[in-house]
Amino acid sequence: MAIQLGDEAPDFTAETTEGTINFHQYLGDGWGILFSHPADFTPVCTTELGRVAGLKPEFEKRNTKVIAISVDPLDKHEAWAQDIEDVTGNKLNYPLIADPDRTVANLYGMIHPNANDTMTVRSVFVVGPDKKVKLTLTYPAATGRDFNEILRVIDSLQLTAKHKVATPADWRQGEDVIITTAVSNDEAAERFPGYETIKPYLRKTQQPA
Ligand code: BEZ
Repeated sequence: MAIQLGDEAPDFTAETTEGTINFHQYLGDGWGILFSHPADFTPVCTTELGRVAGLKPEFEKRNTKVIAISVDPLDKHEAWAQDIEDVTGNKLNYPLIADPDRTVANLYGMIHPNANDTMTVRSVFVVGPDKKVKLTLTYPAATGRDFNEILRVIDSLQLTAKHKVATPADWRQGEDVIITTAVSNDEAAERFPGYETIKPYLRKTQQPA
C-alpha cells in the first residue's frame, strides 16, 4: 500500500555517495526530504540535483536534511556527480542513494509500473522530527520539480506544527495566515489579538513568530 500522510517513514540503511547511511539516524531530530529520480545521466534529473545542491543552505535554515535516490549503482552516481557540477555549477553536497536492487524504491512505492516498471518516478517525501510523513508528491519523469514550492511547504508545515493556524492558497513566509476552526473566537482573541473575521469559518491573523 502507498505511503500516506501520517505514516511512519520506513527506515532503511543504504549505500550513498556519502557512505552507508541509516535514514532515521541521518535525519536525527530534525526534518528531512527524500526525493527520487528516474535515472542517472538524464537531463531533467541533472538539473534537479544541481538545483537542490544550490538550495542546500535554504534547507539547512529550515533544519531539514536532504537525501536523494536513484536506482543506479554507486559508481554511476559518482561519475554523474561531475556532470551535475559542470551543468549547474553546484557540487553535489548531500547524499545520493544507490538503489540498484530497488529496495528503497519498493519500500517507498517509488516505482509506478504503469509509468515505467524499472525507473523511479519523481517522488518527494517530507518527514517531520517525529519521523512521520508530512507531505508526498509524485511528478512524472518529463516534469522537473519546483524546489521553491517544496521549501514553501516546509515553511507551512513547520509553522502549522507550532501554532493553531493554517496557510491559505499561494501563501508565502511572512504573509497572513488562517486561524484553524478548532480555535474558538474567545481563544482566538487571546492568542491572535486583532484577528480579522472574513467569514465565521475564515479568520485571518498576522503570521505568528
Ligand atoms: C530526465 O531526467 O530527463 C528523464 C529521465 C527519465 C525519463 C525521462 C526524462
